[in-house]
Amino acid sequence: MANKITFPEHFLWGAATASYQIEGAWNKHGKGESTWDRFTHAPGNIRNNDTGDVANDHYRLWKKDIGLMKKMGLKAYRFSISWPRILPTGRGKVNQKGLDFYNKLVDALLAADIVPFATLNHWDLPQKLEDEGGWPVRTTGDAFVEYADVMTRSLGDRVKNWITHNEPAVVAWMGYSTGQHAPGLKDYALGARAAHHLMLSHGQAVPVIRRNSPEAEVGITLDISWRIPASNSRADRELVRVDDGLWFRWFADPLFGRGYPSDKVDDFTKNGTLPNGLNFVQSGDMDVISTPTDFLGLNYYSRTVYRADGDDNDPQVLFSNPKVPEHWTEMGWEIYPEGLTSILARVYFNYQPRKLYITENGASYSTPPDENGRVADELRIHYLRTHFAAAYRAIQMGVPLAGYFVWSLMDNFEWSWGYAQRFGLIWVDFETQKRILKDSARWYKRVIKKNGF
Ligand code: FCB
Repeated sequence: MANKITFPEHFLWGAATASYQIEGAWNKHGKGESTWDRFTHAPGNIRNNDTGDVANDHYRLWKKDIGLMKKMGLKAYRFSISWPRILPTGRGKVNQKGLDFYNKLVDALLAADIVPFATLNHWDLPQKLEDEGGWPVRTTGDAFVEYADVMTRSLGDRVKNWITHNEPAVVAWMGYSTGQHAPGLKDYALGARAAHHLMLSHGQAVPVIRRNSPEAEVGITLDISWRIPASNSRADRELVRVDDGLWFRWFADPLFGRGYPSDKVDDFTKNGTLPNGLNFVQSGDMDVISTPTDFLGLNYYSRTVYRADGDDNDPQVLFSNPKVPEHWTEMGWEIYPEGLTSILARVYFNYQPRKLYITENGASYSTPPDENGRVADELRIHYLRTHFAAAYRAIQMGVPLAGYFVWSLMDNFEWSWGYAQRFGLIWVDFETQKRILKDSARWYKRVIKKNGF
């Protein structure tokens, strides 16, 4: 059958993971403690008190996992590097065993014809740096640049796609302001400082990465939801302004040379969060943050509809779709593929990044293996198919989308949810570490092969 949709030639079909979510081996071979080790080891932070101590045991089973990627025909793989595996105390002495692990991983990916995309910071900060103040202090950014230097000297001859930070908004606001993520602090002033040092260290790392990894493409990954008001009332629109400003514009605007959004600076100044305004910004910082990059990565999962008079004083009401599995994933996130077209168009036409990648998109469904060991996850296939089509519509509009990474390669440790949410194309039995390609993985394989569907 002919394809209805054919993607551009060389479109990079991939899957993504993150070190803390899959590696395990949290204290093996010289790895230092991370903020996520500390956070998960404290009872009460994570559902069921799950931890990433073992996770997918990928540190041991990586060869097998690359074999599965190859079987699926993946063209690219986005993984993250565990900073405390490389620099156990965050800076200074390098742990050679850690470097060896990623060197072997990268060599095996290249041998399997899979393009490696390396993320330097997918949240597992060395605990030692947190003890010294974490992202709210400027010196943590200096340590990040040192780490970026070490990594790109080591892998830069072979890894040609680098992502500095994953979702700095989530690190800043959930790690330091709401406390749902490591290190579990609850102060918006700390969050704003964390955000600044994340973005500053991104800009500082870009030339270092380019120097060590000639011809490399460098970018950052931001998370984005399609945020819309439930009506044109002033109150509903105001909620969208507030949240879009906090979660997206606070990061995207500085990245593209527009500085911090003035409406949000006003909010923070007036509500007492930052009574002295942006006193942590030093002269020249904003230029560094807006150092040109080669691409922008976006993680998109869902939309958020804002209604000021929502139920139970919850201002966010997702209302338009009936609450059935075709419209809601098990994370409780509404499925809204049109939102993917909209965010791609919005970001491209408003900010003009040179190139875009969807660095994460996917769905959590717990569909288990049946008695024959088959995982018939047609809801995930439905989610992916409609989102791929939505991405295609953006490409037709002229958005330079160069690739798409499904979250996730395999079921894994889903942060505060522990193992209760399964996003994988591959089923993982966490007792036996057995892996099974789900139907979605087999379907994805055909999409990749035909470059469409
Ligand atoms: C994103 C994270 C990723 C994964 C998905 C579901 O925010 O970057 O690690 O947990 O959500």
